[in-house]
Amino acid sequence: MSSNVVINLVTREEFKVSPVQPALGAEISGVDLKQPLTPELRDAIKAALLKYKVLFFRDQDVSHAEHVAFAGAFGPLYPHPTTTAIDGFPEIHRIARSQFPQPTPGGFPDRKFAGPSVFHSDTSWRFIPTWGVVLKGVNIPEIGGDTIWVDAEKAYANLSDEFKAELEGKFATHDFREALHKAGKDYPIIAHPIVRTHPETGAKILWVNFSQKPQVLGLSRADSDALLVRILDEYRRPEYQVRLKWRPNTVVFWDNRATSHYAVHDYGDFPREVQRVLIAEKTLPYEHY
Ligand code: SIN
Repeated sequence: MSSNVVINLVTREEFKVSPVQPALGAEISGVDLKQPLTPELRDAIKAALLKYKVLFFRDQDVSHAEHVAFAGAFGPLYPHPTTTAIDGFPEIHRIARSQFPQPTPGGFPDRKFAGPSVFHSDTSWRFIPTWGVVLKGVNIPEIGGDTIWVDAEKAYANLSDEFKAELEGKFATHDFREALHKAGKDYPIIAHPIVRTHPETGAKILWVNFSQKPQVLGLSRADSDALLVRILDEYRRPEYQVRLKWRPNTVVFWDNRATSHYAVHDYGDFPREVQRVLIAEKTLPYEHY
């Protein structure tokens, strides 16, 4: 356990950061997300986020306005074009779905690199993806419905030199057009480098979105799929992961630029609901970046 010496001036509690796995993830205590953040607390949370990549805040019964205010302390918010917004809060997206494709004897659906239950990072289909996510657990099954995050920095760092050389200069596509078209919107297919540099930490990260029909540019479909499977195998290593057992009023803040995540769809028809706010790099309508 580590602790930063920051006192929450509102609650008089000490801000504490407790790592939950060696790779990534930390539980934060001593913060009441219902209260406006002081600049010191905001900076302490941001520093913890850059270090641990995913932060868990338990028992935070924040209202919609408080949810938005907390996320908004870290950057402009992004109203997503295809998810359902909460009435009066276009920045909060309701994520609720209870029927998902289930694994079959032929293999898990994610081998097709498409579908909801796969490693992905939110809005990577955009030229400048949203960088942060603040997700609140609302209706949570007693068991099941966990979320897994993978440390995309460790996934890259531990690759062999040969594999790193193979990935150098390679780009993968991010195609969200099917969902956008259903919502009457459009956006071109974007290609991002498979190995990206985190803009704040400078770390190299392994970054593919398996929910957005990835294809490696310049390779045949078969060679591209073979390369993507090797990347997916890295994401699947438990040593690079943290897995959250949600409770209602758990709030998670993660860095989309350093992680990929996977929502586990193992709760049948339970109406699980989480509510998400996305933090952008800058304020522009989605068509423009
Ligand atoms: C998301 O992909 O942003 C939501 C993750 C979840 O439902 O756990």
